[in-house]
Amino acid sequence: MSNVLINFHSTNTTSMAITQFNEVVAEEEKLSHECKQLLLSLPKEKGWRTPHLYLYQNFWCQPTEIQAIMSFQKHFQAKESDIVLASIPKSGTTWLKALAFAIVNRKPSAISKNHPLESSNPHDLVPFFEYKLYANDQLPDLSTMTEPRLFGTHVPFASLPNSIVKSNCRIVYICRNPFDTFVSIWHFLNKIKPRSSPSVSLEEAFEMYCNGVIGFGPFWTHMLGYWKESIEKPDKVLFLKYEDMKGDLSFQLKKLAKFLGSPFSVEEERKGVIEKIAKLCSFESMKQLEVNKSGKSIKNFENKNLFRKAEVGDWVNYFSPLMVDKLSKLMEEKLGGSGLSFRVFH
Ligand code: A3P
Repeated sequence: MSNVLINFHSTNTTSMAITQFNEVVAEEEKLSHECKQLLLSLPKEKGWRTPHLYLYQNFWCQPTEIQAIMSFQKHFQAKESDIVLASIPKSGTTWLKALAFAIVNRKPSAISKNHPLESSNPHDLVPFFEYKLYANDQLPDLSTMTEPRLFGTHVPFASLPNSIVKSNCRIVYICRNPFDTFVSIWHFLNKIKPRSSPSVSLEEAFEMYCNGVIGFGPFWTHMLGYWKESIEKPDKVLFLKYEDMKGDLSFQLKKLAKFLGSPFSVEEERKGVIEKIAKLCSFESMKQLEVNKSGKSIKNFENKNLFRKAEVGDWVNYFSPLMVDKLSKLMEEKLGGSGLSFRVFH
C-alpha cells in the first residue's frame, strides 16, 4: 500500500481530484495493524474506487470494508427480532430498505404525514453494518435502536456472523438480473471514483464483472449463497427479485410484510395502505426529495447517485451481441441447475 500522499498545485478540479485520491490512501493508512497484516496475505486485483480489491473469505472487497466486516463478524450479536436486508450492490438495496422500514414502522392502518422517509435517506434509517455501524474501527452502541432492528449488508451469506445465521432473526435478500446490475454498477462506480482516476470503460468493467472481480462478488456466489438458504430455510431467508417487484409490487409487499411478521390486515388493504407504501417508496417520489438530492448517507457516496433510471432492461442500450452472449453463457454455467433465473426485459 502506498505511503505517498500526493501534493499538487494546479486547477481547482485537479487538486480536488488529488485530494479525493489522497483521502482514499489516507483511509487505508489508518487501518488496524491486524487488518494491514491480513491484507498482505490476500490475493488482490486492481480496484475501481480504491487502488485494489482484495479477496477476503472468497469475495472481493475494499480494505476499509474488510476491517469493518472483521469487526462486524467478531462483535455483532443478533436478536431474534432483528431483520437483516442483504444484497449485492446495485440490486435495489435502497428501495428494499425504504419498503421494509415503511412496513415495519407503519402506524396502525395508515402511513403518517411527515414520514421519516421524507426527511431521511433509507440508508440513515436502516444502517449498513459495514459502511456505518462497524466502519472506522468503531463499536456501535445498538442498545438504543427500536425493535425490530433493521440492518443492511452486502456481506455474502457464508460470511455473516454466526449469531445472524444461528438465531431466528430474519434475512431478506434482494436480487436483480446481472445484465441491469452490471450497467447500474458501471454508471455508479464511474460517478463515485476519484476524479483523478480515469473512467473505467464499459468493456474493461465487463471483463472484471465476468471475472467476479467486483465489490462483494463474484455475483453468482453471492446470489447462490442466499438463494440456497432461502430454499432450505424459507422462514429464515426471503429471496426477492427486483424485476418481480417492478412487475407486481403489491403482491411482493404482501409477501414481505407477512415474512416480517407484520402482515397487512384486511382493513389496511381496504384503506390502501399497500399502495401508499408503494408510492412513498417509489423511485419517482424518492428521487425528488431534497434529502435524496444532496448529502452522503453512506460515506463517500452522494445520495443523488443512488437514484438513476430504475428500469428493467436498460442493459439493451449498452450491451453488444458479444457481451450478451458472454454473460448469458456465464449465467448458464454458474447459475444453471440452481433454479435461479431472471426476467431481463421490461
Ligand atoms: P439503476 O442504476 O439501474 O437506475 P442500490 O440501491 O442497491 O444501490 O441499487 C440502485 C439501483 O436501484 C439503481 O438502478 C437505482 O436507480 C434503483 N433504485 C433506487 N431507488 C429505487 C426505487 N425507489 N425503486 C426502484 N428502483 C430504485
